[in-house]
Order: sequence, then structure tokens, then C-alpha cells
Amino acid sequence: MSPFLTLDHVDVRGKRVLVRLDLNLPLQNGHVSDLTRLERSLPTLKELASHGAKIIILSHLGRPKGIDQSLTLAPIAEALKKAMAPTPVFFCETSQGPLVEKAIQNLHMGEILILENIRFVEGEEKNDPAFAKEIAKWGDIYVNDAFSTAHRAHASTEGIAHFLPSYAGRLMEEELKALHLAFDNPKRPLMAIVGGAKVSTKLPLLKSLLSKVDVLVIGGAMANTFLAAEGYPIGASLYEPDLLKTTRELLNEGNKFLLPEDVVVAHNLEEKKNLQSRLTSDVKENEKIFDIGSLTCEKILQKMKEYHTLLWNGPLGVFETPPFDKGTVRVAQGAAQLTKKGSLLSVAGGGDTVAALAHAGVLEDFSYISTAGGAFLEWLEGKSLPGIEALERQKA
Ligand code: 3PG
Repeated sequence: MSPFLTLDHVDVRGKRVLVRLDLNLPLQNGHVSDLTRLERSLPTLKELASHGAKIIILSHLGRPKGIDQSLTLAPIAEALKKAMAPTPVFFCETSQGPLVEKAIQNLHMGEILILENIRFVEGEEKNDPAFAKEIAKWGDIYVNDAFSTAHRAHASTEGIAHFLPSYAGRLMEEELKALHLAFDNPKRPLMAIVGGAKVSTKLPLLKSLLSKVDVLVIGGAMANTFLAAEGYPIGASLYEPDLLKTTRELLNEGNKFLLPEDVVVAHNLEEKKNLQSRLTSDVKENEKIFDIGSLTCEKILQKMKEYHTLLWNGPLGVFETPPFDKGTVRVAQGAAQLTKKGSLLSVAGGGDTVAALAHAGVLEDFSYISTAGGAFLEWLEGKSLPGIEALERQKA
């Protein structure tokens, strides 16, 4: 049974429904360059609109310090208009005061109003109860459909739930269901793959995963710190010397790590021809490690065949600069095949991961790909997320 109330528990007809979305979308030259997060928000919006709600959308964009027109939600409102057509979508150029109230009064059943970047208001990030109360007055109920901002205790993600009946939206439900299946209650054995640049930013994640998973695959530049801690030569590769002791302690915590056995090296990222693949024991002084090698890929994929659940965060090499994308692409495609065959439940998310898996062409083939960054990591770290707690408190 769900620990919070959902759209199944409320009749929204004629109600003013405040919906927190994460429309923090990437922009290029003033236009949205990736609509994934918006598209994932559509099921909740369509359901609310078809059931006759008056929908008021709250979202942030970027991290403005006060009003900053380069972070206006106007281009996102345009993208939303297209995506929701023929449902009417209006943009309100502020997220505070009488103009908002007036715009809401003019809203009819089944119509959508999207407010300006909620972080333009000081009270938002401070989780100021006075601002949360002001927002709450605009609606009859609150729906949180922004798992990816649930790690923030802000007025529109946490504070507001103290003042209004609160429900999880469909995307929030879907994200949490996937995470529960893969992390809290996985079909074992469970493999985690963690890549990316730094051990230091992922220490809590690594510790939390170690206590849960059956094997922990390490890739990306962070693997260099692990290899150095094990005494392997890593040449001129990026690594974190300050983290060697901590990394050794992690390695001593158990026999669960799968580190690269071979790596792709070059002198710099521009060098793309005649690349060398080396055993990790053979890396030369002036070489830099930019990807895992083919032996390592095979080893991961062989193991994955015996596994039933996969959690993935972070690329295994410099995937943005082919040919150093090969390791990430090969392992991602292998995981996608096993998922399609039905032997693996694969859940990925966080930071660069979505871009890496999109590059590998497997976005549709994984069981679930979360668009959350920090929230995905904090969830896996075992932290409790204020936005989710607020919903659970309501049900309790
Ligand atoms: C994200 O992009 O991860 C969310 O929108 C949260 O953004 P924030 O890190 O600025 O709170």
C-alpha cells in the first residue's frame, strides 16, 4: 500500500490544484533543448485537466538569486503550451501577489496556469512559512509531482504541505515505485554500477550501496582513485590523492567491488587514433585513463547475466568524447538487452547518467530511468527526502 495519498484518493473536479513540477529544463539560446522532464510531467497534467481541475503549476528553473530574467519560465511555458494543446495554458509573469490571485480567478476548469520561476521569491528556498501559506491560499489541494526536487525543503516542495491536503502525482508515484523495486526490495542478486569523476562526491552513496548490493562496479575517473588505492599505476590520470585512505577503508569493508582490469589510455582527449588498451598493471607514467577496457566490459556483462537487478549512476568513461564512450555504450547496451529479455530489472538515474544512456540509445529499453539528479542520489544514500516526508506525514 502506498505510504502517501495519490490522485486515486481525490476528486479534483472544479478544484484549484497546485501542482509542483520540476520544469528545470536545459535551455540553449532561450529555447528548451531537452523536453524529457516536461514530457514525464504530462500524464499528471492530462489526468487533472480531463477531470476538470483548475491547474496551477509551480516550478523553479536554475538557481536564481532574486529575479533574473535569464531564468524566466516563459520559454518553458511556450513548450508546455505546445505539449498540452489544445488544453489552454496561460503564463503568469510573477509568482507572488495579487496578479497571481487574479490569474487564478480567471482560470476555468481543465485550464492550466503556469507561474513564473518560484525561486524568484525569497521565501521559496528559505521555506518561509508565510510564503508557503500565501501559496497555499491559491489552491484547494496540493499535488507534488517533482521527485527530483523532493530533496529540497522549500516552500513549494515541503512548506505548503503543512497547509493543504497533499497528494503524490503520477510521476512521483512511478519514480518511487521503481526505486523501491530496485533498492528497498530488489530481486537478488543486485548489481550497482557507479561511475563519474569523483569518489569525494559519492562517498555516502558508495557506503550506502555497499551495505545493500551484491556487487559494486566502479568506473569513470573515480575508478582511478580506487586503482591507485590498490597500488596500481595510473600514470597521469585524474584522481583524488586525498581520498586514498578513505578509498582503502571502503575496499577493506568487503569483497564486493568490481574494479577495471583493463583500461583505454591516451595522452589527451584529442588523441583518437591508435588508442592503447592496457591491463591496469601496465599503465605508463605519461598515460591517462579515459575508459574501461573490453576485458572489463565482458566481465561486467558476464556477471550481469546472473543478476536480476541493476542500479546505475554515472558513466564508465569520458562518454562525451568518442571513442572513450565505448565502455559505457557497451555495458549500457548489454544491460538493455538483458532487460528486454526479461532477466534484469534495470534502474538508472542521476546527473550525467541520462545523457550517457541516451548516447548509448537505450533510454527506452531500461526498466526505469529517473530524471532526478541530487534527489536520486540522496534517496540511494538512504536519506529521507523532505518533499516525500511531507506527503507521508499527510497520510499518517
Ligand atoms: C535538479 O535539476 O536536480 C532539480 O531541478 C533540483 O535542482 P536544484 O539542485 O537546483 O535544487
